[in-house]
Amino acid sequence: MRAGAPPAGSRAAFVCRASPSLALIKYWGKLEGGRMLPATPSLGVCLGSLSTTTRAEASFDGADELHIGEAAQPIGRYSEFFAEMRRALRAELGFRVTSRNDFPTSSGLASSSSGFAALAFAAARAGEALLGGGRRPLSHAEISRIARVGSISAARAVFGGFSLLPARARAARALYGEGHWPELRVLVAAVTLEEKPLSSRAAMELSRSTSIYHRSWVGGAGAELAPSLEALGRRDLEALGLSMRRSYLRMFGTMLACDPPLIYWLPGSLELIRECEAMRREGLEVWETMDAGPQVKMLCLARDAPRIVERVWATGAAAAVIESRVGGAPEVGAAESA
Ligand code: PMV
Repeated sequence: MRAGAPPAGSRAAFVCRASPSLALIKYWGKLEGGRMLPATPSLGVCLGSLSTTTRAEASFDGADELHIGEAAQPIGRYSEFFAEMRRALRAELGFRVTSRNDFPTSSGLASSSSGFAALAFAAARAGEALLGGGRRPLSHAEISRIARVGSISAARAVFGGFSLLPARARAARALYGEGHWPELRVLVAAVTLEEKPLSSRAAMELSRSTSIYHRSWVGGAGAELAPSLEALGRRDLEALGLSMRRSYLRMFGTMLACDPPLIYWLPGSLELIRECEAMRREGLEVWETMDAGPQVKMLCLARDAPRIVERVWATGAAAAVIESRVGGAPEVGAAESA
């Protein structure tokens, strides 16, 4: 323990609310060697209408503990993250954490990205407050690096707005704030609210170890980055949509080529993809993407959102539709210590 640190038994708590980062260009696959580094670049937009709120309490004497809602989580899933946090804070602290999502967890709505981003901020700030002594707070880049150890997509969620995590990078970086594209909307259509059968972590490992297309996916993924960045810079929805589509469909191509094959889609997912195609043929600008689950997320402009939502409901394929603006950076503040 550091000289001058508060006595055992002292506690400090912080709360953070963070929104998930939806990948427009997908990260799918880790570098070998177990270092939680992405093999492909990813470009994310923060979904302001969805959030995770996490309270972390740091102490000198406690063991790590984490609840999502009422459910105690197996702490092994978090041990590398907490070890990284202790290394960054240079102190042997324990963290007691409670977290809740205002959207379904583990159903392919990117709960791990907002989850680890909120956890990283809350735990870092709680640890710093407990340690005191005028230390320099961990920067956003450092928090992004620690969040990445929990979940690679969380590295992006630390920034809000639009962010980029280059291939092989340890931290993401901010590209544009939430005000860059005020008319942009993301419609999240949940085809089911049930938990997905396989975590993205397990699915990625299956892709890496068995998919005959994995190498070509990783080799080709970088090609979408320049056109998508350009399209985002000039707020060109069609050009961005074309890149997004190539990215997610190629990602699913690698999954289909796994052994055993991995199919996250449900009939409703395909129905919504087809409906997006039909709407585009009719001149409505709507571009879909999907992640490790059956849900379909659609980018469009605010003026078209009501019509598109109506069309999505009319398919009968959606159990829920959430309309989101681009979200801001995580909010973090001190909490009452229990
Ligand atoms: O970081 P993870 O384990 O939540 O994986 C995220 C994978 C995708 O959502 C499919 C893509 C991405 O970049 O967010």
